[in-house]
Amino acid sequence: MTHTTAPVSAADIDVASLSLEELWMPFTANRAFKRAPRLLVEAKGMYYTAADGRRILDGTAGLWCVNAGHCREPIAHAIAEQAARLDYAPGFQMGHPLEFELASRLAELLPGDLDHVFFANSGSEAVDSALKIALAYWQAKGEPSRTRLIGRLRGYHGVGFGGISVGGIDTNKKQFAAQLLHNVDHLPHTHDARNTFARGQPEHGRELANELEVLVQRYGASTIAAVIIEPVAGSTGVLIPPKGYLERLREICTRHGILLIFDEVITGFGRLGAPFAADYFGVQPDLMTVAKGITNASVPMGAVFVRRGIYETVVNATEQGIEFFHGYTYSGHPLACAAALATLGLYREEGLFERAASLAPYFEDAVHSLRGAPHVVDVRSLGIVAGIELESRPAKPGARAFEAFTRCFSDENVLIRTTGDIIALSPPLNVEKEQIDEIVGSIKSVLERVD
Ligand SMILES: Cc1ncc(COP(=O)(O)O)c(C=O)c1O
Repeated sequence: MTHTTAPVSAADIDVASLSLEELWMPFTANRAFKRAPRLLVEAKGMYYTAADGRRILDGTAGLWCVNAGHCREPIAHAIAEQAARLDYAPGFQMGHPLEFELASRLAELLPGDLDHVFFANSGSEAVDSALKIALAYWQAKGEPSRTRLIGRLRGYHGVGFGGISVGGIDTNKKQFAAQLLHNVDHLPHTHDARNTFARGQPEHGRELANELEVLVQRYGASTIAAVIIEPVAGSTGVLIPPKGYLERLREICTRHGILLIFDEVITGFGRLGAPFAADYFGVQPDLMTVAKGITNASVPMGAVFVRRGIYETVVNATEQGIEFFHGYTYSGHPLACAAALATLGLYREEGLFERAASLAPYFEDAVHSLRGAPHVVDVRSLGIVAGIELESRPAKPGARAFEAFTRCFSDENVLIRTTGDIIALSPPLNVEKEQIDEIVGSIKSVLERVD
């Protein structure tokens, strides 16, 4: 598309004459999308505005990330101020006060001695950074043979080579299978048909954590660096950990000196009604990865939270000079730090994590009312996140849920998300009860029309 004057914001673009061809969209069926695009042009609070002017109720907090609702004034203001004051500062051998301030505030929020922070720009970068920290730790500690990484089937840890290797989603690996990390293995996932329509944490499956003992027997603990899991698996369709499972995994990791990494890119910042899943479940990891809600998605940012002893071991192992050869041009970017500080302020002032906790029973009742709706074979929820699993069409996995998604968007003005044949809901934490009813009612009505 040729412009006489370059457009400076979406408001300057005439959507009707927009060329869609040049952009290669991520995780999108590009050809189908470009034939029937779904464009969002504005957002406020719980709603998007679509290009055709419709208000769309956001049932997914964007991509599980806009936890305080859209375009919040204090965050927008903090970003604008910071952009005018200090747009960028190099992060290598230099620093700026906001990143230190943010790290301190985060450390106050974090459980136990998980009180050191390494900044990245996304969940994928946070995950790859965490895996590197684990390897660097064992080298520094004098156990360099601990290099094996254990993930879990159906786990999603972003799209870096580290993340897809420890991840357990086959479709994300198969185009790159020849070049994945070696020395990786996986625990079984925790989906268990005995738990269908369970409310909260399911009863069955604690023993699946014992599979880590099997891997320890197979490889030897002295070869295993870390286990990485999502406490609640999100992108694979919301799998809630069975009662006792995380505790058991923690116990086995501790017994064998294996680092436990919680990937809290989705569960972090209030999604379960507590600051982190680690708080909700009372299970402390050694490292934690976050992104998304850290800035309410307003500026990209990711982070790894690290236990003090891990940080100290790595930085004290080197006589002088750089201790950890890793970092990003935009680690601790001033705009992201400003956004994150304003976001933390909002979460605190509006009591959004507590709000999520008190709303969770209503949300649970609402999503479980879909039991009995056409095609629904399971419903799972915890805090303000839910998975509604549909029976797949024969030989067409994912097609039924995807049709529900497009119909919710075009007929019901509601944004939901699907993964395979599972509908995932994760509205902003300040969603109102009537809006929860509207989201669930829309899904019900669409399922009645989808074959
Ligand atoms: C648990 C988890 N880890 C990592 C990621 C990757 O984050 P990003 O897309 O910001 O790289 C995601 C994204 O959904 C996630 O859910």
